[in-house]
Amino acid sequence: MTTQDDDKPALYGRKVLSFVRRSGRLDDRLQRAWDRYADRYLLDAAAGEGSLNVRDDVRFDADFVRNAWGNDNPLIVEIGTGQGENIVAAAAARPDVNFLALEVYDPGVAHTLLLAGKQDLGNIRIAQVNAPELFAHADAGVVGEVWTFFPDPWPKMKHHKRRIVQPELAASVRHALADGGVWRIATDIEDYALHVHEVMDGIAGFENAGGLTVSLPTGHVGKGNAELAADMPHADFAESERFGGRVLTNFEKKGLAAGRTIHDFTYRAV
Ligand SMILES: C[S@@+](CC[C@H](N)C(=O)[O-])C[C@H]1O[C@@H](n2cnc3c(N)ncnc32)[C@H](O)[C@@H]1O
Repeated sequence: MTTQDDDKPALYGRKVLSFVRRSGRLDDRLQRAWDRYADRYLLDAAAGEGSLNVRDDVRFDADFVRNAWGNDNPLIVEIGTGQGENIVAAAAARPDVNFLALEVYDPGVAHTLLLAGKQDLGNIRIAQVNAPELFAHADAGVVGEVWTFFPDPWPKMKHHKRRIVQPELAASVRHALADGGVWRIATDIEDYALHVHEVMDGIAGFENAGGLTVSLPTGHVGKGNAELAADMPHADFAESERFGGRVLTNFEKKGLAAGRTIHDFTYRAV
């Protein structure tokens, strides 16, 4: 079942989803970008036309990388690339690394195609699928780094389970990562920062490689009562300096403009 209303059950089939399916109408510019660049950059991993499920026979392995990029270069995967500004800039800066953008939203995918195509980049590919599913199809060690920047915050308490950083995804990201590889996460939402620590600190197979000490409330707040957090008991957590390989996207800019602190995390596969 799909839903346009985030108060309805968050189910798609039997799955809790981290996104709402929205109509993805493209304006003329994005439609032209899609028509021009989809064949070059879009990977065929979905279960069918319009589906965000990953096809049963897809193996996200070394052959998948060789077929898609034509080489064995290290691979960085960004989950939820939005408009694609960050991954396209990273791909342009590091031509010796392969980049895979995972995004579900049509206009975001189209905009990423546009940015990549305009620069004629050869090292980026895009898969329009539910990201945790692709990771569930991954072979051990196929990915060098995973990035999740400014994930949808799902502020209401009853929606916290829709946050994409979850133990199940962490387990499959760990499996996909080569030893020593990292999962970088960033959020401007304080309650999401606590959520990341709860899911990731001490989870099997990762160490928190952050060198900064950050004080956070130890209780959760939801939409409408976020201001209560300041009076809650706090504890210290390890976080990272801002990741220098990230360009400022609109989501980070909006957080900064609203006076929010950006929380960066580095979890190393051990
Ligand atoms: C708040 S936006 C941030 C985008 C980008 N990282 C940035 O900083 O500009 C989060 C993005 O994650 C995407 N997303 C959410 N759940 C996803 C999933 N399960 N698989 C792939 N993309 C997802 C959304 O469509 C949205 O574009």
